[in-house]
Amino acid sequence: MIVILDFGSQFCHLILKQLRYLQYSARIFPHDISVNELSSFNIDGIIFSGGPKSIFEEEAPHPDPRIYDLNVPILGICYGSNLIAEYYGGTVKRVGKAEYGIEMVDVLDRHHPLTEGLMEKEQVLMSHGDSIEALPPSAKILGRTKKVIAIFALDDRKAYGVQFHPEVHHTPNGKIILENFARICEAEKKKDMQDFITDQVWRIRNTVGPNEHVLMAVSGGIDSTVAAMIIEEAIGDRLHCVFVDNGLMRKNEVPQVRKNYEKFFTNFYVVDASEKFLSALRGVTDPQQKRRIIGKMFYEVFHEFKEKLSQQGINLRYLGQGTIYPDRIESAAPSKTASHIKQHHNLVPLPEYLKLELIEPLKDLFKFEVREIGRKLGLDDYFLQRHPFPGPGLAVRCLGEITRERLDALREADAIFEEIIRKYGIYEDAWQAFAVLLPVKTVGVQGDERTYREVIALRVVESKDAMTATVPSLPWQLLYEAARRIVDEIPLVNRVVLDVTSKPPATIEWE
Ligand code: XMP
Repeated sequence: MIVILDFGSQFCHLILKQLRYLQYSARIFPHDISVNELSSFNIDGIIFSGGPKSIFEEEAPHPDPRIYDLNVPILGICYGSNLIAEYYGGTVKRVGKAEYGIEMVDVLDRHHPLTEGLMEKEQVLMSHGDSIEALPPSAKILGRTKKVIAIFALDDRKAYGVQFHPEVHHTPNGKIILENFARICEAEKKKDMQDFITDQVWRIRNTVGPNEHVLMAVSGGIDSTVAAMIIEEAIGDRLHCVFVDNGLMRKNEVPQVRKNYEKFFTNFYVVDASEKFLSALRGVTDPQQKRRIIGKMFYEVFHEFKEKLSQQGINLRYLGQGTIYPDRIESAAPSKTASHIKQHHNLVPLPEYLKLELIEPLKDLFKFEVREIGRKLGLDDYFLQRHPFPGPGLAVRCLGEITRERLDALREADAIFEEIIRKYGIYEDAWQAFAVLLPVKTVGVQGDERTYREVIALRVVESKDAMTATVPSLPWQLLYEAARRIVDEIPLVNRVVLDVTSKPPATIEWE
């Protein structure tokens, strides 16, 4: 396993993701984890992430110094490379104002194990406030920009540093460096996701006692479906899958999910709680408040369900969820520096009264890995290609007050847009394509009459994991057709607009 020490970089999870794309097992730990704590892991190599601090600051984070004695290769990225250079006797200088942006690196040695496969000139993303002034005595410069030492190697120690970020998209060949480093570490590639499934099944079997049952919240999306399949593989009919109809689902979603799930799971239940959710949301317009209420409602429904099963002598002890790694990053701030963006409904803390413990078999995986497992477990294209849909459902796309009438209008607009997006062959390549109902009215003229009605915004994004997203260009005819049909077919709406903002600065959902 490759250990990634988190010194506070915004990109730490991308190092993990790139290594996992390359099929190496890797894990992030806080920068100050002690060597004793790491001793139970089989460590092939260590990466020091970048970080926002300067090594000249008093509170600059340092690793446990014994880490350098573990005798495994170390790669430092940005701040991490400065730590390594300094530790082995080099000097680091303050650049003053931090430099951020795209730079070109001249790769001076392309035969070194770390740089093999790179081109003479490589585009990289730099983001740093310090740079290396003098390298440790036996170190070698493998690459530099006009201003700084960009890549170095201390071969006798197998310690390496890159001043830029190889893990980000803007360093197109950064993954070559990460792959080369993993090879230097002699890390083995994971065979495939089968190992992961076997491991999780084994863990769940060892956790859930013979008379204990698991309540699984399934949403119809790939994450919770795959998680449920793994749990069912482990404990068979002691799994109870519940699909909560919260009144916030897309058009025809409830019958569709029912049809699909009945063939997968032995115990599958649909609970109609739409009245309960909609009355709790009446008059609420604040996005975080909506999310909190929805999270709370889900738990109430689970509680009632648990009580019902307990009367039949079934002891529900665990709650299964399809939480994946990016969900945890954006909502729960897994490191000391990541900032809190949205309250993810999966991550509202489990209330005491539920007396359920969580089982989240996918919590360390990225979406592409969940898809790979889904494929392996025999899920068809309906699940594999289905766009993600947020747990709070249409509540976070129905801006302003949530009423049945507004939800129906939104559902209809969304269905029209999906139909058109599919017709134009855009659906498969898009991460998400959906409609949003805005809390404003505008003036229109229809059939010679003045109208004063609501606005639909259309959003299409491309993304790999929802952490960042871009907006593709769309055929004008498609947009025109969508606007035309939405306004013609939905009496509540008289205007359609297009959202062309990427993430960041916007998020994918509007709330
Ligand atoms: P944002 O809007 O934060 O969304 O850019 C990133 C991805 O997560 C989905 N999303 C959610 N999924 N519960 C979920 O299960 C939530 O509360 C939630 N909020 C956003 C969103 O659709 C996008 O794919």
